[in-house]
Amino acid sequence: MEFQALILISVATLGFISLCSSIINLVKWVYIMFLRPPKNLKRSYGSWALITGSTDGIGKAIAMELASEGLNLVLVGRDSLKLESTSSEIRHRIGDRVSIRTIVIDFAKVGGEEIEKRIGEEIEGLDVGVLINNAGLAYPFARFFMKLIWVWLRRRVRRGIDLLFGVFSSSEKSPPRRGHLLGQGG
Ligand SMILES: NC(=O)c1ccc[n+]([C@@H]2O[C@H](COP(=O)([O-])OP(=O)(O)OC[C@H]3O[C@@H](n4cnc5c(N)ncnc54)[C@H](OP(=O)(O)O)[C@@H]3O)[C@@H](O)[C@H]2O)c1
Repeated sequence: MEFQALILISVATLGFISLCSSIINLVKWVYIMFLRPPKNLKRSYGSWALITGSTDGIGKAIAMELASEGLNLVLVGRDSLKLESTSSEIRHRIGDRVSIRTIVIDFAKVGGEEIEKRIGEEIEGLDVGVLINNAGLAYPFARFFMKLIWVWLRRRVRRGIDLLFGVFSSSEKSPPRRGHLLGQGG
């Protein structure tokens, strides 16, 4: 009888712990999804964000979103006219409370340390804490994915690293600061 009671208490305790854990997870999920205030990017990382591939699609949408959070923007693209038109569109929607700078770079033509140097020079003195590496480089013809994977991976990883160095180590006088990187460019 005592053994049976022990088993019963053990099972009930396990059930109680499991129920508590589920309730805690549910409360956490509700807090994260609906109640937690958004992170203040400006205070956490710095007042400027640099976005590659910012004149179209996902990059442009991210630029708009970051500007609405009050971050100043450095927009990177190949075409100065497209960059200017994107800047005007953002200013039109958000107003003059954010500053926007543009850098013309074609990542298909410029690579390696040249990217690091150009970006470093252009953002000298700016407090850039967010880097969105979004520019996508497509191939002009169709190939099997397995034939492209190493070329694609190498190019993607290298560009990410070059940008990272250009942005976060641009000033040798200041120590590396806490930054945020989102990479999705191909
Ligand atoms: N859309 C999707 O369903 C999807 C899915 C998975 C991943 N992605 C990735 O997400 C990223 C954005 O996709 P998206 O659909 O928003 O792209 P998108 O609308 O085609 O925009 C591409 C952007 O990249 C810039 N860009 C292209 N080639 C460049 C180069 N050589 N040098 C510098 N900038 C260049 C373009 O700027 P300019 O023309 O002004 O130079 C443009 O702002 C890409 O990396 C893509 O691979 C997209």
